[in-house]
Amino acid sequence: MSASFKEFSGGAAGELAPARIAGEGLDATHGVVLYLDDISVSFDGFRALNKLSLAIDIGELRCVIGPNGAGKTTMMDVITGKTRPDSGTAFFGQTIDLAQLTEAEIAHAGIGRKFQKPTIFERHSVFENLELSMKTDKRVRKSLFAKLDGAQQDRIAEMLELIRLAGSASRQAGLLSHGQKQWLEIGMLLMQEPRLLLLDEPVAGMSDEETERTAELFLALAGKHSLVVVEHDMAFIGRIARKVSVLHEGSILAEGSLEQVQADQRVIEVYLGR
Ligand SMILES: Nc1ncnc2c1ncn2[C@@H]1O[C@H](COP(=O)(O)OP(=O)(O)OP(=O)(O)O)[C@@H](O)[C@H]1O
Ligand SMILES: [Mg+2]
Repeated sequence: MSASFKEFSGGAAGELAPARIAGEGLDATHGVVLYLDDISVSFDGFRALNKLSLAIDIGELRCVIGPNGAGKTTMMDVITGKTRPDSGTAFFGQTIDLAQLTEAEIAHAGIGRKFQKPTIFERHSVFENLELSMKTDKRVRKSLFAKLDGAQQDRIAEMLELIRLAGSASRQAGLLSHGQKQWLEIGMLLMQEPRLLLLDEPVAGMSDEETERTAELFLALAGKHSLVVVEHDMAFIGRIARKVSVLHEGSILAEGSLEQVQADQRVIEVYLGR
């Protein structure tokens, strides 16, 4: 906990302080990891999000689809604190009001976000990239040269297997394929042990085989983490979909199985009517 926060929080608010910042403080007793309620965001009078409400269960793999400009990325910006809503509430678990946290505190609380363009350390090896992103690691520089303990080595080895880069551990990250770079970034996010992972168009630019492997990866992650996946690639969505939310003009238009939303007349109009 930072000293400055300690100073500013007194009384009842002070008791909530550890939950505000530590990932372990997540209270998901009602089985819900994320609540968005009545969120609106305007840019110069244009409503990018319009009374958006959404609840994500612990361990859920939620797909979010919708036409260009529907507000999908803006929704992720709100969850991660990059954009502040004009109205509405966003809670992480039962108790963590995301409006009270900075972007860094939200990440630290356990919400990881994958942007479309991979942000990896191109000049470092795959192994070092994972090492650098380990949760305990505050003094980044130092840890590169400090010896890892056995548990940390095992953790990196497991991650290399999971993201299918075990054979490329010593390879320079900049030399990986586009898909491999995406997996490496997902691995780096996972090293921080997020409770909720937000993935914005994760398979854009991937080959069919890479896309299939990414589907397998996400299916393996579901249950251990909660995932919110935004994608336009409907073949990919069909491969991983459980519950699907359709976003349109900043609100949820339909929610259900992929079959249900695809049969919804309003959804058909939104996708075909343009
Ligand atoms: N910072 C911003 N300033 C002004 N307008 C913005 C800003 N961010 C988003 N918008 C607008 O808000 C609307 C929603 O954008 P958003 O990026 O959330 O859509 P999206 O569903 O992610 O679309 P896509 O599928 O194309 O990625 C768009 O009309 C966009 O132009
Ligand atoms: Mg977007």
